[in-house]
Amino acid sequence: MGLNVIVLAAGEGRRMRSRGPKVLVDLAGRTLLQHVLDRAALLGADRVRVVVGHGADAVCAAVPEGVDTVLQPEQRGTGDAVACALGGLNANDTTLVLYGDVPLPQRATLEALVEAARRNELSILTVEVDDPTGYGRIVRGENGHVSRIVEERDASPGQRALTEINTGLLAMRTGPLARHVAALDRDNAQGEYYLTDVIGRVSDAGGTIAAVQPDHEWEVRGVNSRAQLAALERTWQAWLAYELMTSGVSLRDPARIEIRGTLQAEPDTMIDVGCVFEGDVRLGAGVRIGAHCVLRDTTVAEEAVIESHSVLEGAVIGPACSVGPFARLRRGSRLRDAAKVGNFVEMKNTDLGAASKINHLSYVGDTEVGPKSNIGAGVITCNYDGHRKYRTVIGERAFIGSDCQLVAPITVGDGATIGAGTTLTGDAPAERLTVGRARAQTIEGWIRPADRDPGSDDDEPST
Ligand code: UD1
Ligand code: CA
Repeated sequence: MGLNVIVLAAGEGRRMRSRGPKVLVDLAGRTLLQHVLDRAALLGADRVRVVVGHGADAVCAAVPEGVDTVLQPEQRGTGDAVACALGGLNANDTTLVLYGDVPLPQRATLEALVEAARRNELSILTVEVDDPTGYGRIVRGENGHVSRIVEERDASPGQRALTEINTGLLAMRTGPLARHVAALDRDNAQGEYYLTDVIGRVSDAGGTIAAVQPDHEWEVRGVNSRAQLAALERTWQAWLAYELMTSGVSLRDPARIEIRGTLQAEPDTMIDVGCVFEGDVRLGAGVRIGAHCVLRDTTVAEEAVIESHSVLEGAVIGPACSVGPFARLRRGSRLRDAAKVGNFVEMKNTDLGAASKINHLSYVGDTEVGPKSNIGAGVITCNYDGHRKYRTVIGERAFIGSDCQLVAPITVGDGATIGAGTTLTGDAPAERLTVGRARAQTIEGWIRPADRDPGSDDDEPST
């Protein structure tokens, strides 16, 4: 049996006070909608449809290929939204309804919901809360079975006191769901087509309704305001930190790490405070990340150390390498085994050989460096002529003295030594010293102007 997922995302989200649609705000590096779509993908949904309305153009533009969008022309309620999305779906498939602004239902919860829908007429996701204000209340019959959902504005005082609430997420066989939503009316306090009325109708017809609960309350928390967004971000970050620690990673302070994407880390990795991980980051066993580093789409192999305040983007760091403090590695930076990049070094699109070093104050771009080479302080690869980029190739065991400029395209041979201060504009041969430097002269008998004529100092009153 197939699975359809319908994501309701046509609402306005006024309390966000945003110019754009609410489902496109960012939580942990992804839009709310993308979180929901990622979860649908995890379930192996055959078809995913997003119901759009407010801000439809922006939402449609953000929907990835393989996901359909359906326009709900007028926001006439959740029942109407689902009705809009059911056209052409196989009646025997199960349909799971998710909300675009409820980003974090976990896989196990959704699987339990779908499973329960297959064993019953219908399944709903509910939670017990301290304060049920604003939510639909779950009404159970004397036998304890769910009999209906009452929206707050339609509830009696007795029903308002109920603390089991409707999260809005539900699952049902597509054929019966379509029949029920087509028969809804708007005979209620809000004059809307309530999806929740389907529950009463199924119960009245003698169908069984399963109520499934999530493991964590935060899984079903919706985002209606920036304050709720920030609170959910903290909760989610705390959960991600907890999971990392469970998998064997040490965090100096689990409240001071930000994961805005996926972070995979092997055991005995140590992460100091204030680090931000974006996109897809992988850390090998025993890696140490110093305080206040930013790593984006980067892989760090086992036993490597990233010292504090380093920023790495699109970098691949080999085993036992050392980076930073204050290093900036841009896209295409690759460090082979035990290579070392020190403070105030910028690297881009550069392959640094095993055990090679760039320890201080350098820019190295579009470069290939063989193993065991040493790039001195202040070396600059001049890879750009204002129009095109050129490559620099440095062999193994090369020694580039401090403050050299290598004007690309250029090749430095194996074992070559380039004297400090050289501006190299042509290739340097292997195993030889190449140096280009104006020799410093000492001028005998020279006297500082101030010493030559002490009376002329501007600060002194003239006589
Ligand atoms: C709904 C439920 C309520 C539940 C609550 C949980 C109904 C009638 N009520 O209430 O029982 O406790 O969610 O948060 O279903 N949407 C559309 N089109 C519409 C209306 C809504 O796409 O015409 C979307 C919204 O963008 C949102 C979701 O459906 O993602 C829920 O809508 P919302 O207005 O927040 O529902 P509530 O009235 O809060
Ligand atoms: Ca809501």
